[in-house]
Amino acid sequence: MKYGFFDDDNREYVINNPQTPWPWINYLGNEDFFSLISNTAGGYSFYKDAKFRRLTRYRYNNVPMDNGGRYFYINDNNTIWSPGWKPVKTPLDKYECRHGLSYTRITGAKNGLEAEVLFFVPLKSWCEVQKMKLTNSSSETKKIKLFSFQEWCLWNAEDDQNNLQRNFSTGEVEVDGSTLYHKTEYKERRNHYAFYHVNEAIQGFDTDRESFVGLYNEYSEPQAVLEGKPRNSHAHGWSPVASHYLEIELKAGESKELVFVLGYVENDDNDKWESKNVINKTKAKALIQRFDTSAKVNAAFDELQSYWNQLLSVYTVKSGDEKLDRMVNIWNQYQCMVTFNMSRSASFFEVGIGRGMGFRDSNQDLIGFVHQIPERARERIIDIASTQFEDGGAYHQYQPLTKRGNDAIGGNFNDDPLWLILSTTDYIKETGDFSLLDEIVPFDNDENNAKSHFEHLKASFYHVVNNLGPHGLPLIGRADWNDCLNLNCFSTNPNESFQTTENQSGGSAESLMIAGLFVMYGREYVQLCRQIGKETEAEAAQVHVDNMVQAVIKDGWDGDWYLRAYDFYGKKVGSAENEEGKIFIESQGWCSMAEIGREAGLVEKALDSVKEHLDCDYGIVLNNPAFTRYVVEYGEISTYPAGYKENAGIFCHNNPWIIIGETMLGRGDQAWEYYKKICPSYLESISDLHKTEPYVYAQMISGKDAFKPGEAKNSWLTGTAAWNFYAVSRYILGVRPQYDGLLVDPCIPKGWKGFEVVRKFRGATFKIKVANPRSVNKGVAKISVDGKLLDTNLIPVMPEGVYNVDVVLG
Ligand code: GLC
Ligand code: GLC
Repeated sequence: MKYGFFDDDNREYVINNPQTPWPWINYLGNEDFFSLISNTAGGYSFYKDAKFRRLTRYRYNNVPMDNGGRYFYINDNNTIWSPGWKPVKTPLDKYECRHGLSYTRITGAKNGLEAEVLFFVPLKSWCEVQKMKLTNSSSETKKIKLFSFQEWCLWNAEDDQNNLQRNFSTGEVEVDGSTLYHKTEYKERRNHYAFYHVNEAIQGFDTDRESFVGLYNEYSEPQAVLEGKPRNSHAHGWSPVASHYLEIELKAGESKELVFVLGYVENDDNDKWESKNVINKTKAKALIQRFDTSAKVNAAFDELQSYWNQLLSVYTVKSGDEKLDRMVNIWNQYQCMVTFNMSRSASFFEVGIGRGMGFRDSNQDLIGFVHQIPERARERIIDIASTQFEDGGAYHQYQPLTKRGNDAIGGNFNDDPLWLILSTTDYIKETGDFSLLDEIVPFDNDENNAKSHFEHLKASFYHVVNNLGPHGLPLIGRADWNDCLNLNCFSTNPNESFQTTENQSGGSAESLMIAGLFVMYGREYVQLCRQIGKETEAEAAQVHVDNMVQAVIKDGWDGDWYLRAYDFYGKKVGSAENEEGKIFIESQGWCSMAEIGREAGLVEKALDSVKEHLDCDYGIVLNNPAFTRYVVEYGEISTYPAGYKENAGIFCHNNPWIIIGETMLGRGDQAWEYYKKICPSYLESISDLHKTEPYVYAQMISGKDAFKPGEAKNSWLTGTAAWNFYAVSRYILGVRPQYDGLLVDPCIPKGWKGFEVVRKFRGATFKIKVANPRSVNKGVAKISVDGKLLDTNLIPVMPEGVYNVDVVLG
């Protein structure tokens, strides 16, 4: 069953039934100020960091689901309703939610009154704007009472939930005309406050939750709304909220627009006050003034639209398959921006208090985003590298507000360093900007201990070389990409975290995933050294890469697939000899992409084994057979029930590794089949089962061993976004940046007649037309630029201009 449809012309997903199988959300804001908004207007806002600077309160996993948000209540002659259906849930005559690129438009109608609200965060501003249009389509004059509502969070989202003995006493507000200010802790150590404003004189307000809602009422039936009377309450402690009250008269056919602004302000320490205990509102007023008319809001909205037009013009495809086109041209790229911004911090699954920016996560997110705004990617690479240690290791995560490594999460994830080589080389291939390598970047954020960025890459490379195990394979450390394969942990205490608990030393657990990763990005490192004339270093590094290839062939091959690891005791993991977990996806993906043993047929065999043992109706599962008992020497992986998460779930992030591997073998039909299986736009018609948004990827779909295969969880914040965009745009459609130009090397299903890609690359625009007259999967027979034949399929870097590229496969 479907709950809406794609409106590709407007680049929107349109939800026409509010009772989606799970809240279907969107993100507002792209730089500093962010909001999450569900299809019923639930969600919250924060400034930069969802943990440390949370503006509005949200209760995760509540009953009912998705409780709390920016809510409007309309009391129309004692019929009470909300334009987003929730929280009141009065049946509406019309409901529609349009999730677009960094905006959401929700429309509800009841008894001849329509309320449409456009939510967005204007570019370069610290606020969420909510433009409401009320239209009386009945034949009589209407007098309605409108209440706005949001609940403030006391800034630190974690403390807000668990330090109630303090927090019930600290809340402070100010009311100034139509602006309701939240200033808790402003008088002491904070230099920031928030406000909620409407551009119209109000007839009342509330700032104390209990006064507005009533102690035993719910959001769906606030006392003040039921009675049609605000309390004009001033919060002192307890739970401060912000609610405007407006009495509005609309003649038959009349419309009215209101602009609400939820804003955030920082003041200098010596400029905090207007007078004793009265906050300095200068900046708030300036911000309000920027959006105090519909015309100004419309102009800001147009700017946001142009911003996205420009971003999405860098890579577009016309394939004849609308489901593919809408993913590549709109939604997958959009999700890449969101994952770039958020890492794994805040979604409707990630609560925004635990997991700042991941070292490996953010490096990988970048490969789906770098073509959009390379300057921001560059800055991000430096931020990440600044949390690296001198020996090449890294903090596993860092906080976006402070940009400092987060000790609480632990370190020693031995794959982490290598991802920095991926992001850096990818950035340089996109831009040609080698100067990044010369930037002086601190280790562990210590400016006194800084070296060139190139030295960081070198440290990354040698971190693996310096941490090899008995088979010459990389030691796994705490865990590699799969956080849940904890081969040194041996935890028996349920209150310990697998991620941070003290590991046992003295073991020799090795990872075949890191081995494959090292061959891939070790080669990238070698190539980079050559590009910048470091020939001696290139040769030295090449030896280590070659050794790793040999080590994998000698001790990493199980007969029909690559092993996954050796455990603490040196026993095989992911071998036909094992009872459960005989084969794992990660090492098949990485060793295949690295083409280890390809001449001897290893890659083909490994990928055939993936098909045989790991593939299922909904995607490729992570391991097989699933673990059915806790294996203490494997750790968290074996704690999950079979078919979920890292225990034989379809952990979508790694499916594109297999897809890319398949394209390297030229098996375009297989690659395409895998691509479609987890791609959300192809799953729209099974939304009931799939549950999460049909416009974005989820981290995990339950696998074939699960109680209910095909059910997705953890939508939005997943490396799946970047990797699938990478796989489809660079390996299936096959347009990939190189240091010296743009390579065209598609690998498609035989049945495709052709397709077109427009790619902007270093100032030039290439209109690439691919024809497939001989129905092949792969192989460029002929390629010309503006009619001139090339003798390789690498289009050189060209001056600004538009070029027609004709490609014939065969
Ligand atoms: C989560 C983590 C990521 C990890 C993956 C697999 O998505 O954020 O770092 O690699 O799970 O365990
Ligand atoms: C949990 C999750 C896993 C994630 C890890 C790190 O183990 O299952 O997916 O990567 O936490 O936070």
